[in-house]
Amino acid sequence: DLYNFRQIGVDTKVHGVIGNPIGHSKSPHLYNAAFKSLGFNGIYLPLMVDSVANFIKTYSSTDFVGYSYTIPHKEAGLECCDEIDPIAKEIGAISCMIRRPTDGKLMGYNVDYLGAIAAIEEALRGSNGATPASASPLAGKLFVVIGAGGAGKALAYGGNEKGARVVVANRTYEKAKQLADKVGGQAITLVELKDFHPEEGMILANTTSVGMKPRMDDTPLPKEALKRYSLVFDAIYTPKWTRLLQEAQECGATVVFGTEMFINQAFVQVERFTGLPAPKQLIRDVLARNT
Ligand code: ATR
Repeated sequence: DLYNFRQIGVDTKVHGVIGNPIGHSKSPHLYNAAFKSLGFNGIYLPLMVDSVANFIKTYSSTDFVGYSYTIPHKEAGLECCDEIDPIAKEIGAISCMIRRPTDGKLMGYNVDYLGAIAAIEEALRGSNGATPASASPLAGKLFVVIGAGGAGKALAYGGNEKGARVVVANRTYEKAKQLADKVGGQAITLVELKDFHPEEGMILANTTSVGMKPRMDDTPLPKEALKRYSLVFDAIYTPKWTRLLQEAQECGATVVFGTEMFINQAFVQVERFTGLPAPKQLIRDVLARNT
């Protein structure tokens, strides 16, 4: 009963996740289960969309009240908002959009940053219990972000806000440079990253789709280059163990799965969509059952 259309009535709050492709998304499983357990009268659909602008225009007068955004539409989504949260504006991408009940305006937010940074901090605290809860364990660390799209921007802004020294590594140098300049960081190409090892104990975050199912033999950085990293995060969550994370673990690094970012984002979005505290254990269980 993933999409139980029989439950839809005049008061049902309709939500969806906008992406392309969208078939792999676990979001409908999570959100529908969360809505049900909270007794919230809502439904959440996968929305395969080519043009975000056309979609939003087509459904502008409908009762869609909330959207999540995924690859490749997080930047296009920003253009379709009536109002944008300041952090999302700085990042240049949104991860969710909510229709304000009072006037129907579409409000854009970015919670990628909250989910991913929280997951990395939690893992760093676990591997180094000495850090007091008030200070970010990312402070002062060299934090390498691969990719300069929506997720890359979110991680770079988040890392900078936590006091990390940010390096943006991207296939296209110009995009890395633009982002690095905004966060006071350094830009390099993905090719240069192979020989980039200024110090030990660096932190790596992959935000590209390289290694995502079905191309699971691909990896953004070869194993030889992973030895200097103490922690590696991959935003990809299908598969859970990307080649990058497998090889990072073989090199002795702590690994943080894309599922952790996704789970943390889901907590925030469920709370924004429903106004109720997220059922955290249920969300973890549903994701475990559907991975
Ligand atoms: P998202 O919003 O999820 O971050 P995106 O905006 O489409 O997605 O960004 C994709 C990022 O992955 C970009 O940084 C892209 O690099 P380019 O700026 O050079 O396009 C990167 N990317 C995608 N496919 C890649 C590949 N095969 N090799 C290296 N980088 C890749």
